[in-house]
Amino acid sequence: MGKDVIIACDFDSAEKTFAFLDRFTGRKPFVKIGMELYYAEGPAIVRAIKERGHKIFLDLKLHDIPNTVKKAMAVLSRLDVDMTNLHAGGTRPMMEAALEGLTRPDGTRPLLIAVTQLTSTDEETMHRDLLVTGKMEDVVMHYASCAATAGLDGVVCSPREAEAVHARCGRTFLTVTPGVRFADGDVGDQKRVMTPAEAKRIGSDYIVVGRPITAAADPCAAYERCVAEFCD
Ligand code: C5P
Repeated sequence: MGKDVIIACDFDSAEKTFAFLDRFTGRKPFVKIGMELYYAEGPAIVRAIKERGHKIFLDLKLHDIPNTVKKAMAVLSRLDVDMTNLHAGGTRPMMEAALEGLTRPDGTRPLLIAVTQLTSTDEETMHRDLLVTGKMEDVVMHYASCAATAGLDGVVCSPREAEAVHARCGRTFLTVTPGVRFADGDVGDQKRVMTPAEAKRIGSDYIVVGRPITAAADPCAAYERCVAEFCD
């Protein structure tokens, strides 16, 4: 898979999601379905978006005992998504079990990406609440390295970490990066942002873009602008 723009479809109903996707007449963007939409509509929404011809990143961030995650991944794999994820904090045995569950009888499977430390967790909170000591960037790199050793395909990380992740885990280890904003756009609640062009320069493999596209007056034009800056 090459570089691509993934639209975060953070809607609370199928109706709103389809109204949004209906606006894309020429293209079938890669879309991310997160907890909000999945818990609202269940697996039917995944099948419906797939039937419309979109690639899907199912962002449910699994984290449980290895056997439970393995079985859940086997079910998600049957939904025929293109990419899904889990928390690297579930440890290597959980990530290995997830890969096993995700692999279909014919040997194919969706890409499996690990979340390292959430970007909502700062270093002080990580020390205080999780008792994970050390620098945030070292912890993120360690989690990425564990994910690579477990055989995963990449990590979700800040675009600012993409270069270091590639240096540590190899150029083919994927970096999926949210926190993207246009140079002249609203930052919103994201703290450390980058433009699509900067994310491209720094080597992100996929950018995940929500509100700059979903809340734009012309979402198709905003999407095309992302593609032009990031992919072309
Ligand atoms: O609207 P916005 O572009 O900020 O959306 C970013 C998307 O990426 C959201 O779905 C958000 O949950 C997700 N995400 C993130 N930061 C992470 C992991 C996921 O913003 N560290």
